Amino acid sequence: MAKAANDVLDKIVSLAKRRGFVFQSSEIYGGLNGCWDYGPLGVELLKNLKEEWWKFMTYREDVEGLDASILMHPRVWEASGHVENFTDPMIDCKQCKSRFRLDILGDGIATKKKRKVFETVAAQLEQSFPGVADKSLSDEAVDELFNTLLENKDFNLLLLNEINCPQCGNKGTFTLPRLFNLMFKTFVGPVEDSGSVVYLRPETAQGIFVNFLNVQNSARQKLPFGIAQIGKAFRNEINTKNFLFRTREFEQMEMQFFVPPTQDTKWYEYWKAERLQWFKNLGMTPDKLRYHDHPSNKLAHYAKEATDIEYQFPFGWGEIEGIHNRTNFDLSRHEEFSGKGMKYYDEETKEKYTPFIIETSAGASRSFMAFLVDSYHEEVVNDETRVVLKLHPRLAPIKAAILPLVNKDGMPEFSRKIEEDLRRSFKVFYDDKGAVGRRYRRQDEAGTPFCITVDTQTLSDQTVTIRERDTMMQERIAADKIGEYLMKKILF
Ligand code: GAP
Repeated sequence: MAKAANDVLDKIVSLAKRRGFVFQSSEIYGGLNGCWDYGPLGVELLKNLKEEWWKFMTYREDVEGLDASILMHPRVWEASGHVENFTDPMIDCKQCKSRFRLDILGDGIATKKKRKVFETVAAQLEQSFPGVADKSLSDEAVDELFNTLLENKDFNLLLLNEINCPQCGNKGTFTLPRLFNLMFKTFVGPVEDSGSVVYLRPETAQGIFVNFLNVQNSARQKLPFGIAQIGKAFRNEINTKNFLFRTREFEQMEMQFFVPPTQDTKWYEYWKAERLQWFKNLGMTPDKLRYHDHPSNKLAHYAKEATDIEYQFPFGWGEIEGIHNRTNFDLSRHEEFSGKGMKYYDEETKEKYTPFIIETSAGASRSFMAFLVDSYHEEVVNDETRVVLKLHPRLAPIKAAILPLVNKDGMPEFSRKIEEDLRRSFKVFYDDKGAVGRRYRRQDEAGTPFCITVDTQTLSDQTVTIRERDTMMQERIAADKIGEYLMKKILF
């Protein structure tokens, strides 16, 4: 990662800790890799984000909600293919014992170095990959070919012998690649034997699939309709990295939309557009969002079409949500493995069939990070740098701060009264410590969109100033209209 990008991420991680957004898990014991805790401001931001998703996805007549358990029958994961296929290829460095994911090892290697490796092993590769060391190959083509060869079991050792370990720098020290299942195993009951193995779910989706008919019947839904769920998922990632981007415990916000097989493309395109719009509605910079459509040779075994919504993080483009046309794979597999019918009877066409599924799968934790990064700004104001989180008011952890200009002349009492009124509807913060300019800066860093200041004039005409975070403009309004003002600004 380039140094400037590293610096920005370091600043955000440091602000997240200092202001109580995110802490390292079990920090006093040295932390637990790939696990993070959300502090007072973080938990509000995460809750607001999930609430926005929930409203957008389920406050409509064709989507129902669900909260399935994390532990599920072990056969679920056989049917889903996770026991067999949810693996990453990994390699170890024999020298320093570090472990790496083979499929992303190439991301940390400069293209120039890759060209050199190709030159060195050209003779062995030339027959199967003619022109592999050709200087006219574009950087992109070199990167792609390198990744392809790393995942090719006949050729990857050739490349691995020429690569230095990213951790200790030694060359030719990698083991042969092995497959590693990412599911966390545990046991139900007191006996730890193979008959009592269960898994922590690696995705929330399966809880939706197995409940398809329960929800459809109880909610009396007709196709097309969807089931939405927010919940924790766990993956024993080989390499956790980039703060909240790849962690071992995280939250997903998934929706599975069940459709007649003939309508799959229409609904895939519909949800693709809706989901990108959701991020934009909440203020994410449009230029930093893009689709990454999966080429047909890279599709997962169950998918007919797939795209990622990617955000441009300081370290590069990264997936924040996946949208898949999962066909009838999931319901067919659960029908086969459970022996229970999962078909839908269409009363209009008098047909019985297995619905296709369009999946929208967003990471709550990863979206949290994207919103945090996107909102982070440094601006020079009056020769001083102000750090400001320009979070959408609906996402902001604190909606308004109430600041008495000075701690006397009845201003604290008036301010406390405003605070008490607002607390009934909003998360607000009372601050009377230090110069008002410093108090504004503290709220800018927390992403608070409005600061309400009670001053001398307030005491004579019951008006206050409201300062807007991004423009820093102030306006005067009647104190008894603050609630209405905030409601308008936050909701619309
Ligand atoms: N049900 C489909 C599914 O789980 P996925 O692409 O593996 O698809 C969906 O995951 C989303 O979950 C990703 O776009 C990402 O936002 C989030 N996610 C996946 N693995 C993650 C991890 N290790 N840490 C944080 N978020 C993760």
